[in-house]
Amino acid sequence: MPETVKLVYQGKTYELPVVEGTMGERAIDIGALRSSTGLITFDPGYVSTGSCKSRITFLDGERGVLYYRGIPIEQLAEKSNFIETAFLLIYGRLPEKAEMDYFNYHVIHHSMVHESIKKFYDGFPNNSHPMAVCSSVIGSLATFYQDQLSVRDEREIEIAIHRLMAKLPTIAAYSYKKSIGQPFPYPDNTMGYTSNFLKMMFSTPCEPYHVEPIAAKALDILLILHADHEQNCSTSTVRLVGSTMCNLYASISAGIYALWGPLHGGANQSVIEMLQTIYDDGGNVQKYMDKAKDPNDSFRLMGFGHRVYKNFDPRSKIIKKLADEVLLELGVREPLLELALELEEIALKDSYFLEKKLYPNVDFYSGIIYKALNIPVNMFPVMFAMGRLPGWIAQWKEFQEDPEFKLGRPRQIYIGDTRRNYVPMEKRKNQTPERD
Ligand code: ACO
Repeated sequence: MPETVKLVYQGKTYELPVVEGTMGERAIDIGALRSSTGLITFDPGYVSTGSCKSRITFLDGERGVLYYRGIPIEQLAEKSNFIETAFLLIYGRLPEKAEMDYFNYHVIHHSMVHESIKKFYDGFPNNSHPMAVCSSVIGSLATFYQDQLSVRDEREIEIAIHRLMAKLPTIAAYSYKKSIGQPFPYPDNTMGYTSNFLKMMFSTPCEPYHVEPIAAKALDILLILHADHEQNCSTSTVRLVGSTMCNLYASISAGIYALWGPLHGGANQSVIEMLQTIYDDGGNVQKYMDKAKDPNDSFRLMGFGHRVYKNFDPRSKIIKKLADEVLLELGVREPLLELALELEEIALKDSYFLEKKLYPNVDFYSGIIYKALNIPVNMFPVMFAMGRLPGWIAQWKEFQEDPEFKLGRPRQIYIGDTRRNYVPMEKRKNQTPERD
């Protein structure tokens, strides 16, 4: 007998089915709630709401566990690479050699953008935030491939996937080049994904550019660690936009914007800015810990806390180790890392942080590595977007293929004025609304 939950309302009992996932998490299926009871659920921030069934990513925030398609993140960070992980997320399995070669070839060979796209950059101010530039340019791809925007044609979707994966690093690097007034280099298809990106970011036509292998490797691992995180804000945005049967380019463009905010993908930028502020203010860590704990102060310790992880974010452990390796190998001495370590040590012993289960999240250390790689602070969220791209694609694709595909349309509890009449302008001053 399938399990059910009984709901008693106004003397009547309703049985609601319980849905169970493969890792044991359970949900009450309330799909028929409104039609049978007239009630809707109320859950600001969707903290208790499951929006879909998904086979892509499993995370257990209480235990600090993260799997992509069943494979622990630690194994992927150690043994896989970003392109293989992208294939895994998008297509649901580790690729065989021929599949890997095919995917790799296309992800590399679509890396150039239409020459007209470069002219868009002239229209943006030099100090534009690169997230705004990237989202706009990604959205504009839909104008270049107008006859290939079907959301039900497998081949058209495959080409869009190749284009997005291949072009985002180029589009991202150009947003940086524009901001510093340097020429836009062409991608180099003989290089790996992250090496090519670093070369486009930092090379100039005047001299040869050597990509440090540790820099390419560190970036590759960071992209893997950011590649998916189930139904977070930006992924839910991509699914919601996709629920209108809107094309993949537009859905991803919306996802980039959703990621931009400081409570989500913008947090890595905020972490470095916060560390810099503390450093410039004399490095008084305790002062900022006190501010973070003061209920009358809006200051938060950026890079701490997570909606889902109430334990160590497993990605932050990998990143912390990686940060040590990168700084050592590149010979970078980073005072902000020392400050970060000091903050972490105090926070992990502080009752406020322990009681509220606030641990370092993925962004606490990623910024230190980006900084060591000379990536400018406002590009940090863009790095996150590059990593998250295959996750967004996988989630969008899974949803389009879902037998339960439906236009997303939450409801609300209206708390505004009840019906009232229109008041002409001349009668409005000091008027209480005229009601029926
Ligand atoms: N510093 C100080 N206090 C904090 C912090 C923090 N970083 N995070 C949460 N709290 C406190 C809140 O003030 C609140 O206290 P209260 O119960 O006394 O009011 C309590 O902990 C719960 O916080 P909420 O904001 O309700 O928890 P929520 O799950 O909504 O927040 C979030 C999660 C937004 C990530 C939050 O922890 C935060 O703002 N962190 C800093 C920003 C950050 O690092 N974001 C990156 C998240 S990871 C990612 O998106 C990839």
